[in-house]
Amino acid sequence: MPSIHVNGDTYECVADETVLDCLERHDIELMSSCRTGVCQTCMVQAVEGTPPDASQKGLRDTMAAQGFFLSCCAVPAEDLWLDLAGTKGREHRARVIEIDKLNERVVRVRCEPPEPIEYCAGQFMNIVGPEGDVRSYSIASVGALDSFLEFHVLLMPGGKVSSWIHDGLNVGDELTLIGPQGACYYAPGSPDQPMVLAGTGTGLAPLYGIVRDALRQGHVAPIHMFHGSVTADGLYLVDALRALAEKHDNFSYYACALEAGGDDDNIQIQAIDAYVESTLPDLGGYRVYLCGHPDLVKTMQRGVFLAGASMSDIYTDAFLPAGGAS
Ligand SMILES: Cc1cc2nc3c(=O)[nH]c(=O)nc-3n(C[C@H](O)[C@H](O)[C@H](O)COP(=O)(O)OP(=O)(O)OC[C@H]3O[C@@H](n4cnc5c(N)ncnc54)[C@H](O)[C@@H]3O)c2cc1C
Ligand code: FES
Repeated sequence: MPSIHVNGDTYECVADETVLDCLERHDIELMSSCRTGVCQTCMVQAVEGTPPDASQKGLRDTMAAQGFFLSCCAVPAEDLWLDLAGTKGREHRARVIEIDKLNERVVRVRCEPPEPIEYCAGQFMNIVGPEGDVRSYSIASVGALDSFLEFHVLLMPGGKVSSWIHDGLNVGDELTLIGPQGACYYAPGSPDQPMVLAGTGTGLAPLYGIVRDALRQGHVAPIHMFHGSVTADGLYLVDALRALAEKHDNFSYYACALEAGGDDDNIQIQAIDAYVESTLPDLGGYRVYLCGHPDLVKTMQRGVFLAGASMSDIYTDAFLPAGGAS
């Protein structure tokens, strides 16, 4: 079996074992979160030996060429020598400057790094909790418009990091962030291409960043944003998005909830996928962004493809839980 060499020590893998599992079995701590190749938290660098192709999928060519790979997806075919300090450069600190409640279960956290971090709105950062747990949160701010990074965090019952962000984090605290990562962002170059953005819950976070970025960059084609929730009080930033739609003729905002309730008649009582389908039955030529719960992202991806959107025009961010797919 291949072995992993770290700081002069050697650890032998068992059959079909990933580098991450092998090192953890030997009490070598590596940061990890999704364990499915999404968050890139577990990235390490091989200074000798060739990591398997599957473990470099989604990495920039320059990173792959330097031997970086995702240890959670790497079942090695040969011995690897690792430099565990190689990824430290992706860590940032940022001071929390604002924490606001957006609804009963969602807070908005704004934080300022001492030096600007380069990112695209809609990408995500990995936030390190007080006990070293790492979770991904989408960036709702826009680098060219905002001096801060903004995250929308849903309180997950019993959730380690979201509970700490809701109940333990204070203005003035310093956050440790890793990243940015992800390919779900606005790419300029096709301002005439109509767009659909759809998300549930805090799936709005990346979409809020993407739409503001698209409008800032002069996107002229129609942009349709759908936000869904189980009940109307799970929606947030409703007034801000309505104001944005007032300001921009090419931007439309549609809010929906599964269950009736509340006094806002402009909230459609319908599932978000059905609402998109009935509003825009033909999505041929559209660029589509889908974010939020993994099951819904999967269902909607199929739906918008069947409605005519090309697979290469569909961008997704499934909020997978830490530890593997749900
Ligand atoms: C690319 C990406 C972007 C994300 N962006 C955001 C964001 O902008 N805002 C946001 O609030 N969250 C986002 N998430 C989800 C976030 O990373 C955490 O999974 C979430 O905050 C729960 O972490 P926790 O430590 O509180 O819960 P944990 O301690 O990890 O889990 C507690 C319980 O909740 C369940 N659980 C955890 N996460 C989920 C989930 N996503 N769906 C269903 N069940 C779950 C677990 O299975 C467990 O039973 C994103 C995830 C990914 C992969
Ligand atoms: S990519 Fe490996 S833990 Fe997320």
